[in-house]
Amino acid sequence: MGLLSGISKIKKIGILTSGGDGPGMNAAVRAVVRCAFKNDMEVDGIMRGYAGLLKEEIVPLNHRSVSNIINRGGTILKTARSKEFSTDEGKAKAVEILKKHKIDALIVIGGDGTYRGASRMYELFNYPVVGVPGTIDNDLNGTDETIGCYTAVNTALDAIDKIRDTAHSMERIFIIEVMGNKSGYIAVEVALGAGAEDVIVPERPFDYEKMCHDIKEGNKRGKISWMIVVAEGAGKAHEIAKTITTMTNLESRFVVLGHVQRGGTPSGQDRILATRLGAAAVQLIKEKKFGKAVGIVQDEINVIDLKDATSKEFKHLDEFYRLVKTLT
Ligand code: F6P
Repeated sequence: MGLLSGISKIKKIGILTSGGDGPGMNAAVRAVVRCAFKNDMEVDGIMRGYAGLLKEEIVPLNHRSVSNIINRGGTILKTARSKEFSTDEGKAKAVEILKKHKIDALIVIGGDGTYRGASRMYELFNYPVVGVPGTIDNDLNGTDETIGCYTAVNTALDAIDKIRDTAHSMERIFIIEVMGNKSGYIAVEVALGAGAEDVIVPERPFDYEKMCHDIKEGNKRGKISWMIVVAEGAGKAHEIAKTITTMTNLESRFVVLGHVQRGGTPSGQDRILATRLGAAAVQLIKEKKFGKAVGIVQDEINVIDLKDATSKEFKHLDEFYRLVKTLT
């Protein structure tokens, strides 16, 4: 308890982005910095997430540091994944560094790994942390959407619309692999939005026999092209394409959209979401509510314990999954 009881006023906060970046993270950083200044707090930017924290890559931020970034993808603070921080020893070292730099509280922007690290740091050392959900996977609890997810879906849709043109013209089956190691969020969203014939997600079982049977039946009725979306964690597009060709005797191709989904100009929705969440995180710090994650549920700011925010299944997964198959 020592750390929190010793803080009379939060004078300086730290901010970092960690794990996979997502479009809109910069808008969140901007909101945090500007809201902190409005509340007489200084802000230190920690470069390269927890990895940079452990190397003391800490730079003071000013009003101008966050000019002209609201519309930029990626993160000006850079990001990384850190093995060292994942240990309790790593977290102890991080807290020592934060104290050494007189950083009274830390805002972390990231996904489930980032949240797990921050939550454990809070649990072990009572270090004041607040989480802002930033991941294209939209798999965090306590918020309807996470920063970056809207843009990632739009980016994937843009690409799939182009694939549709060639799939239809050349009468082929296309397997399109999207991001989402444990999360089928992007897959079901883009499958529905692109009018794909099928979708394969890590959260639900997948039946090759049934899929190939449906393809062959469709082909008999004169159907000439298919688009099947697969989340990366559910199977590899090249293997699925090969198996489908073997089982149906129809020509197939695969596309892995990969990291293109993580980049680009954040959509209006992601910028607004990020700005509201960044401001809400500073508000929590002002109120000295720590170990929390901010979110937006039904368009209202929502706050839950960080430890409860680390994962969730997309709430419309079953509905979207069924709808994709119904509309085939
Ligand atoms: O967590 C976001 C994410 O883009 C996942 O969808 C994907 O599985 C992972 O990051 C990829 O991570 P990396 O960029 O480290 O390969």
